[in-house]
Amino acid sequence: MKGLKYKRILLKISGEAMMGDRKYGIDSSTVDYMAKEIKEALSKGVEVAIVIGGGNIFRGSEASVEGIERASADYMGMLATIINALALQNSLEKHGVPTRVQSAIEMKELAEPYIRRKAIRHLEKGRAVIFAAGTGNPYFTTDTAAALRAIEIDADVILKATKVDGIYSSDPVKNPSAKKYSTVTYIDMLTKGLSVMDSTAITLCMENNIPILVFNLKGKGNIRKIIEGKKLGTLVRGNNGTRVKKKSH
Ligand code: GTP
Repeated sequence: MKGLKYKRILLKISGEAMMGDRKYGIDSSTVDYMAKEIKEALSKGVEVAIVIGGGNIFRGSEASVEGIERASADYMGMLATIINALALQNSLEKHGVPTRVQSAIEMKELAEPYIRRKAIRHLEKGRAVIFAAGTGNPYFTTDTAAALRAIEIDADVILKATKVDGIYSSDPVKNPSAKKYSTVTYIDMLTKGLSVMDSTAITLCMENNIPILVFNLKGKGNIRKIIEGKKLGTLVRGNNGTRVKKKSH
C-alpha cells in the first residue's frame, strides 16, 4: 500500500475489449487476462472499482440509428453490460479475487443493487466492485457512468483502457506521424475533438477535478505500473493538476 500513486482506482473497460480478436461477444481468454491484470493490481493494495461497457454485445447508439427507439436501445445496451459484468466477475473469482457486482438497474437475482456506501465498504475490504448497467438511464454512456461512479466513490483516478497507449494528435493507426500527448487538459479534450470520451463524461470529470489516465490494457502489468507511478499513457487533468479530496464517509 505504501508508496502507491493511487489508492482507489476506477477502471473503465469497453465492451469491445471483451471481444479480444473475435467479432462479437466474449473471448474468455481475454477476460481471463483482464482478471489477472486486476488481481495483480489488487495484490499491491490498491482498491479497484470497474465500469464495463456493452458494445461487444449491443450498441445502443448504433441500434437507435437503425430504427430502435433510442431509450429502448440504450436499455438493451445496459443489459449487455450486465452480461459482461457477470463474465468478468466469474473470471476474477476463478482467480480467487472476491468480487461484487452492483447494478444500476435493480436485478436482485443477478446482482446487488447499486448502493454507494456499500460499494465503498466492499472496496475497503479489498473486493473488486463491478458497476453494471451504466448509470441506469438512457442517453448516458458507460464513460459517463465511469465518471459518475468515480466521483461518487471518491476514486483517485479513472483508468480508461483503450486499444492504443494514450491520446494522439490524430489517429496513430492512420497517421504514423501522429504525436502522443503525455498530458492534456479537459478543455483540450473538449475543444480539440480528442474523441476518447464523450463530452458529458469529460465535463463531469472536469467539474469534480478527477484525472483520467488513458492507457492500453493489452500491455502486461500496465495497471500495476500505473498505480506504482510509472509514466504510461496520457493523463487528462485540469490546468493546475491538483485535486482536493473530499472526506464524506
Ligand atoms: P459484508 O457484509 O460487508 O461482508 O458484504 P457481503 O457482500 O459479503 O455481505 P452480504 O451479506 O451483503 O452479501 C453476501 C453475498 O450476497 C455477496 O456475494 C453479495 O454480492 C450477495 N448479495 C448481496 N445482496 C444481493 C442482492 O441484492 N442480489 C444478489 N444477487 N446478490 C446479493
